[in-house]
Amino acid sequence: MEKEQKPCHLVLVMAPFQGHITPALQLATALHSKGFSITIVHPELNSPDPSNHPEFAFESIPDKFTPPRHLDRDVVGLALSLNKNCAAPLRQCIEQMVRSGDRITAVLYDSFMFCAQTVVDELRLTGISIRTSSATTLLLLPLFPQLEEKDFISQIDAPELQALQLPRLRALLSQYPTSAMTEMRVAFTNAVRSSSAIIANSMAFLEQAALSNVKQHFPVPIFAIGPLHKLAPTIGSSILTEDDECIAWLNKQAPKSVIYVSFGSIASIGEHELIEMARGLVDCEQPFLWAVRPGMVRGSEWIEPLSDGLKECVGEKGHIVKWTPQKEVLAHGAVGGFWSHCGWNSTVESICEGVPMLCKPFFGDQLLNSSYICNVWKTGMELQELERGNIERTIKKLMVDIEGTEIKNRAMDLKEKAADCLMEYGSSSCSLNELTKQISSFS
Ligand code: UDX
Repeated sequence: MEKEQKPCHLVLVMAPFQGHITPALQLATALHSKGFSITIVHPELNSPDPSNHPEFAFESIPDKFTPPRHLDRDVVGLALSLNKNCAAPLRQCIEQMVRSGDRITAVLYDSFMFCAQTVVDELRLTGISIRTSSATTLLLLPLFPQLEEKDFISQIDAPELQALQLPRLRALLSQYPTSAMTEMRVAFTNAVRSSSAIIANSMAFLEQAALSNVKQHFPVPIFAIGPLHKLAPTIGSSILTEDDECIAWLNKQAPKSVIYVSFGSIASIGEHELIEMARGLVDCEQPFLWAVRPGMVRGSEWIEPLSDGLKECVGEKGHIVKWTPQKEVLAHGAVGGFWSHCGWNSTVESICEGVPMLCKPFFGDQLLNSSYICNVWKTGMELQELERGNIERTIKKLMVDIEGTEIKNRAMDLKEKAADCLMEYGSSSCSLNELTKQISSFS
């Protein structure tokens, strides 16, 4: 890299969803700080604002995609349509760069945008797959045509992985044996297997056993370089407007007293579930900060299903907003617990602040993340059933009871380990340096 006059040029293909946009911009920032020049190629949907990132070039590609109101209803269909619609424009876009004399060192793409690897292969470029979820998902999602499923299961059911219950989680995927699911899993697997490297927003210690298992199935180097949001904090990656006033509200609460509730950017709930959540939160006697995304409640714009009486009770004990500055919220001294859908970003952000979790996974990798939290790291407990009594009891268990104390201690322990990863000789810092060398070697 030092010998080069012109910086190596990387193209980063982004997937247009909140949980993907943020880590992609963070990764781009980290690589830019290592001297790479970066062009971000993104579908039109949820376009990032280039004025927030003058250090990058941006290229928008038409996606001909109208997202359904509730994205969680058909994630597989979503992945397939997006990839089908974006493949040709992506090819044109990259071809145009090459034609104009641009020397592209590598194309890094979100593994959700698996069409990118085919484009890269056709144009004889180097592809690098970015996993914005855990690296362990590479044991859940893929299908290996040369391996019988039972043989694969026996390989991933190693003793050190048993607490994760991978066979059970893989069986859940097979509950949707649609041709669309198979098509998506095959396309995803082929892309990752053809890539020249995999980058994961993770930390070696978090997924150690799984990472070594993943390496047996993917013949390319894997770089765990998380937590990306600490490595390269980036601004302006939020699709929705962050409500900063919730920080003023947190400032008035006692240390570690608040339970923060957010189910991320995609999961949805029913009207009855919203009411049960409100009732349970009010009854648990802990202050709460609750992010209810507009459209998160099926059939409603926002929190209309709550009666005026219930809204009043909620207002006395807690604070509801549409979208929070989540990383700041989790780092706030008043927050003592996080009731989450266990999206990977939320999971990593919570780990980094030592906040114990209550887990309500909805779909996909959220089930695996919850299994890590409750069964492997033991930094949280399940709060699945959206019924008021259960909510009240479980929140008290975490925030007040002795059982919660041990969980809190383990969460603080994980926070320290996560911080160590980014020290000069920490695993993620070393991994990022290795990745930099590897990418430079492609030029
Ligand atoms: C999606 C999938 O649901 C998840 O399983 C996968 O791991 C990533 O893609 P999402 O629902 O967006 O994730 O959740 P998550 O990965 O946790 O990302 C949400 C992001 O939004 C986090 O970075 C979080 O900090 C941010 N957020 C969330 C806010 O900034 N404010 C909020 O109020 C809620």
